Amino acid sequence: MCLVKFIKDIQVRLEAIPGPSAIFYNALIKVILRKPELRIAQEIVQEIDKGILIDLGSGTGFLSIEVAKRAPQLNIYGIDLSRKMVEIASGNAGGIENVKFKLANAIDLPFENNSVDFIFSTGSFHHWKHPLKVFNECYRILKGNGVAWIYDGCSDSPKDEIIKLKHQYGAFKYPILSQIQKLHGFKWEIYNTKIKRLLEHTRFKKNFQMKLTDGWMKMILKKI
Ligand SMILES: C[S@@+](CC[C@H](N)C(=O)[O-])C[C@H]1O[C@@H](n2cnc3c(N)ncnc32)[C@H](O)[C@@H]1O
Repeated sequence: MCLVKFIKDIQVRLEAIPGPSAIFYNALIKVILRKPELRIAQEIVQEIDKGILIDLGSGTGFLSIEVAKRAPQLNIYGIDLSRKMVEIASGNAGGIENVKFKLANAIDLPFENNSVDFIFSTGSFHHWKHPLKVFNECYRILKGNGVAWIYDGCSDSPKDEIIKLKHQYGAFKYPILSQIQKLHGFKWEIYNTKIKRLLEHTRFKKNFQMKLTDGWMKMILKKI
């Protein structure tokens, strides 16, 4: 589809999402991406019950805020390269005290070595200009046994996954979701070849898994 190609070409040149797109994205996430992100928020609070969590490329803050609301004992920092995204996310957080948003690049995170318990990220990986540096930066700040869950779209999910998603989202929302997946992320074959090799060259070495879940590719990395 031409529009998908047009937007993808623009994305290749952009790392930080510019102001007008940030405002559009803020509306979109509340309507279409709400459901999968709520599920991820639930999985995160089941996985970890205390400590410092980082959301890389936190955008409008939806996921960070949902995690913070569910687990007041967690401290969440959303990191984003776009000033507008940080501004919108801080506004969305209102008075919730255990979530903060900071302007920073994921290649140079404002955290000490071995200081972070858990990292998560949704729909940001495909924007990273220096993914190897970002993964090594995650390794640096994570405590021993700390884990990172990096989610991004997979534009050619297997048929049974598509049937499941159609059923979950319904006839109106699924086509929009599937276009969003095409714009965010890579094909399965790219994950399974180039991205797998990239991950093996990070400081995580072979301590990672990749699995498809709800139309996302989930990369699970562990600092051993
Ligand atoms: C498509 S948005 C996803 C936002 C949010 N995670 C979500 O699921 O709604 C991708 C975000 O990653 C941010 N981003 C891209 N490259 C980044 C980097 N190197 N460091 C920090 N943020 C980055 C962009 O500014 C943008 O806000």
